[in-house]
Amino acid sequence: MLALLAAVPVPLVALGTAAPAEAQRRVVGGSAVSTADHPWIVALSSRQQFGSGRSGQFCGGALVTPTKVVTAAHCFYDEARGRVDRPGLKVIVGRDDMRGTSGREVAVRSVWIHPDYSFAANMNDVAVLTLAESQGALPVVELVGQGETEPYAAGTTTQVYGWGDTTGRGDYSPVLRGVSVPVVPDQVCAQAYPGGQDGRFDARGMVCAGEERGGKDACQGDSGGPMIVDGRLVGLVSWGTGCAEAAHPGVYTRVSSVADAVRSVL
Ligand code: ARG
Repeated sequence: MLALLAAVPVPLVALGTAAPAEAQRRVVGGSAVSTADHPWIVALSSRQQFGSGRSGQFCGGALVTPTKVVTAAHCFYDEARGRVDRPGLKVIVGRDDMRGTSGREVAVRSVWIHPDYSFAANMNDVAVLTLAESQGALPVVELVGQGETEPYAAGTTTQVYGWGDTTGRGDYSPVLRGVSVPVVPDQVCAQAYPGGQDGRFDARGMVCAGEERGGKDACQGDSGGPMIVDGRLVGLVSWGTGCAEAAHPGVYTRVSSVADAVRSVL
């Protein structure tokens, strides 16, 4: 995730197309971080579906109580099939490098999807997993309050974490990475995502972040992972056009819009 990458505005499928030199210049947008410093960052895993090379990692999440993980609803959806099971679903705690075996793989007892989640509109993109065993010893992250606005002020620095694609070309990171991205004004994001092919931004349930020139972003595989402001969970990696493109910031679930619903199942 953290697409450290830069402006690679070219659709991944159009690799044959000559891209402007500018578009090929890589920009490093993030760096390796450790679950030792952020023990509440977790990976979602399905070895049966995604193979064991990277521990079956397919999304990120955050521990908000010793038994509950907040992630994105779309981690449990598929374009073709709609709601899907992730066979052998586990939450991995305390593992920085998905090629290794450190930390623990914890079974998931149940998956709650926000009742008003819309896959088509990307609204209310939040899910809560209940773990089979309490992670009593681990620090958890605090959720932002329902209706809070201050953490979402344009320009606010956020931290985003994940094991996703670092280039937008399928280069999944084996190690946890983090990147800082500023909150983008809602009006700017609404212009970037007016609906249609690129999707529609709805500030009631979403917030955008990214540098104006691109180069720093979440990407495929980072979904559900935490966006943090002042140590609190304010966003979840949700969607975006490409990764780290100048004109297309990352779009995150606005946790303040679903905080009460989430709390009702904690
Ligand atoms: N939907 C993606 C996932 O499932 C996350 C995409 C985020 N994209 C972005 N440009 N911030 O992993």
